[in-house]
Amino acid sequence: MPSGCPRSGRKPHERRGLSNMIRSVVRGFGAALPKRVMTNRDMEDVVDTSDEWIVQRTGIRQRYIAGEGETTSSLGEAAARAALDRAGLTPADIDLIICATSTPDNTFPATAVNIQSRLGMHHGFAFDVQAVCTGFVYAVTTADAYIRGGLAKRVLVIGAETFSRILDWNDRTTCVLFGDGAGAIVLEAAEGEGTTADRGVLTAHLRSDGSHKEKLYVDGGPSTTGTVGKLRMEGREVFKYAVGMITDVIQAAFDATGTTPDDLDWLVPHQANRRIIDGSAKKLHIAPEKVVVTVDLHGNTSAASIPLALATAAGDGRIKEGDLVMLEAMGGGFTWGAALLRW
Ligand code: UT7
Repeated sequence: MPSGCPRSGRKPHERRGLSNMIRSVVRGFGAALPKRVMTNRDMEDVVDTSDEWIVQRTGIRQRYIAGEGETTSSLGEAAARAALDRAGLTPADIDLIICATSTPDNTFPATAVNIQSRLGMHHGFAFDVQAVCTGFVYAVTTADAYIRGGLAKRVLVIGAETFSRILDWNDRTTCVLFGDGAGAIVLEAAEGEGTTADRGVLTAHLRSDGSHKEKLYVDGGPSTTGTVGKLRMEGREVFKYAVGMITDVIQAAFDATGTTPDDLDWLVPHQANRRIIDGSAKKLHIAPEKVVVTVDLHGNTSAASIPLALATAAGDGRIKEGDLVMLEAMGGGFTWGAALLRW
């Protein structure tokens, strides 16, 4: 039995009243990207922008754009298969699929059900969660609740998006920012001691405030216009709130577990803007070398950005078993949230 936090040597925080408990442990991870890369230079041919402006204001250098036949469910399926392979599992071992997306293949059925079908799964159940850029944190939190509640043993948690399909390609203030892709993890029930030395999800904190819904939204929908609509954002307004909301909810995760930025091995933030990521890490005194940044490669892939970043950093060996990892995101709604887990 572990007697302290592996890195800090501090005595782990005991959750009052809990001894052994079920934890949701990451068993596998995977990612999928469309074939086509679109660089900032390519973007200069589409709208009045420049590589210099995009890099300086956002840190983005390129993004992937889905082509014909590439959909949210096809990317989600590919990421899910990669995560299953890495876990040494097959679809038969999964009893729940949760897909975080705001760009479903169809208004219904859920993209998770599409992915279930693509995986040849006829058992278990599948549903989507829609919390825009915070979708993956919401999905991990939901999966953890199902696992700890005994309703599922192994959950495929997917973040998949094709935001290129809801962009206004005449609006330079938004179209340069987003990209397409998918990432997935397999969470599995495992017995833990109820301390922060356990592997698995240790705590999660979700927030929303719908009074900000006009700052980042899609101007269409089945019940309003009967059309899909295009993404609209008051970027400066969103920026104004981002760092405060992100750091508050990360702090809530530290407080709930008695951990500190020093205990953290990796911050894996939602990848919207390099300035927001750096500003949040700085405010919390999280060292820059502990921050996983992929916004330069993928742009903002909304609910897919965290699992893509996880797959990148775990795939290249940075995130290792036993590492303490903080996930955080903020986006349309507003929604925001953080989840602390031991990999
Ligand atoms: O993932 C969900 C959460 N979303 C976010 O976190 C996004 C939050 N917002 C942001 O990341 C930033 O606000 C942006 C990257 C969207 C914009 O950066 P900014 O530093 O806030 O720029 P700004 O909106 O204040 O615009 C500055 C200037 C404007 O020109 P004027 O009015 O100063 O003459 C814009 O018209 O930059 C202009 N501009 C552009 N110029 C070249 C806006 N978009 C572009 C562009 N290329 N693509």
